[in-house]
Amino acid sequence: MHHFDYRNGVLHAEGVDLATIAREVGTPVYVYSSATLERHYRVFKEAVGEKSHVFYAVKANGNLGVLMTLARLGAGVDTVSEGEIRKALAAGVPANRIVFSGVGKSAAELAFAVEAGIYQVNVESEGELETLSKIAEQRGKRQAIVLRVNPEIGAGGHAKITTGGAANKFGVSWSEAERLYIRAANMPGVAIKGLAVHIGSQIFDFGALEAAFQRMRGLIEKLAAQGLPASRLDLGGGVGVPYELGYPFNYGTDSLETYGRMVREVTRGLDVELGFEPGRLIAGNAGVLVTRVLYLNARADRTFLVVDAAMNDLVRPAMYEAHHEIWPVTPSDGPMRSYDVVGPICESSDTFAVQRSLPELKPGDLIAFMTAGAYGASMSSTYNQRLLVPEVLVKDDQFAVTRPRQTYEELLGLDRAPAWMN
Ligand code: LLP
Repeated sequence: MHHFDYRNGVLHAEGVDLATIAREVGTPVYVYSSATLERHYRVFKEAVGEKSHVFYAVKANGNLGVLMTLARLGAGVDTVSEGEIRKALAAGVPANRIVFSGVGKSAAELAFAVEAGIYQVNVESEGELETLSKIAEQRGKRQAIVLRVNPEIGAGGHAKITTGGAANKFGVSWSEAERLYIRAANMPGVAIKGLAVHIGSQIFDFGALEAAFQRMRGLIEKLAAQGLPASRLDLGGGVGVPYELGYPFNYGTDSLETYGRMVREVTRGLDVELGFEPGRLIAGNAGVLVTRVLYLNARADRTFLVVDAAMNDLVRPAMYEAHHEIWPVTPSDGPMRSYDVVGPICESSDTFAVQRSLPELKPGDLIAFMTAGAYGASMSSTYNQRLLVPEVLVKDDQFAVTRPRQTYEELLGLDRAPAWMN
């Protein structure tokens, strides 16, 4: 469910028409809907129980306006770098609602997190455990942690976003988990609270999630029997969102209810506080990337629709063969045509869609890549020395540029000439 729909023949984000945003901010531009973000947060929270902690995964979309919107609803955040922690704090997320995950947290990042007083560090290796304990001890602190365990069960929409398999780098190995938990319980700088698991992203196979959660439950029970009761269980993110539905589409909350029911069943009787780290589910359908058609390049067997957005702005199709629906901002009544939708970047992977059937388009027309709110702008780059794409947040009939388009001065100002050239 989202708040992008047609009113008087023009695609709107809530009460704002996308043509107006494109005119005032230029293209390409990301547009986010506050109502969609808010709805997804609330629906998820309801599905997993009001007492659970929801830590929105900042990596999906770290835009300040997005983070502020969620912070005001009481959301916590899951972060994976000092930059994300800083951004969350700047958006008004209190430190005691911040979780820090990731396989390669540096000593400096861990020190920053400890000093900020964050809620929990999800420790992923023995080396990290030792480093963190030392850092906290030196500061006279005891950092709350959970141990992220690799359950040797992976799932996800693509091999590149599956994290729970034995061959994936994430978490401590299943066979080492018990030993490391006991070791952590005896370290001076950490307070071990429980376990964390995250097996992948864009998951619809709740059976795989259930099996992984079940393993965590078994481990918690085993530890409790040894006098080490856990009080927290972080079940990660990963719940998928629909990308491949025709337009306009709608989907219900059934799958979230199923997920919530499954979680309740697996954790029944466990005396732990549950945590969740949804990213895509909150932000995915809350954003679109609006781009303008530059040229039609007709070949004998196909027509390339060249648009002003490129793989540096939205890398998912190039990187994961991801599908994004394309909705014309002002669909024509003319015949449907087949297009290969491509960007201006100098490589063939800069392709958003192949043989896509769309109402006839001409140069100057606007189209929107749907479901681009998660892992869109947050993965953008300046490849080909293109300016970072701007981001706009809509609320009802208002909109705000929450990240202006980068300027060429800013882009060129990033580099420094080597001293020997002066
Ligand atoms: N927690 C941890 C520890 C994670 O690694 C991730 C995502 C999440 C939570 C949030 O997962 P979500 O609920 O969004 O599925 N760039 C890829 C997705 C990478 C996901 C990385 N980890 C894409 O565009 O599909």
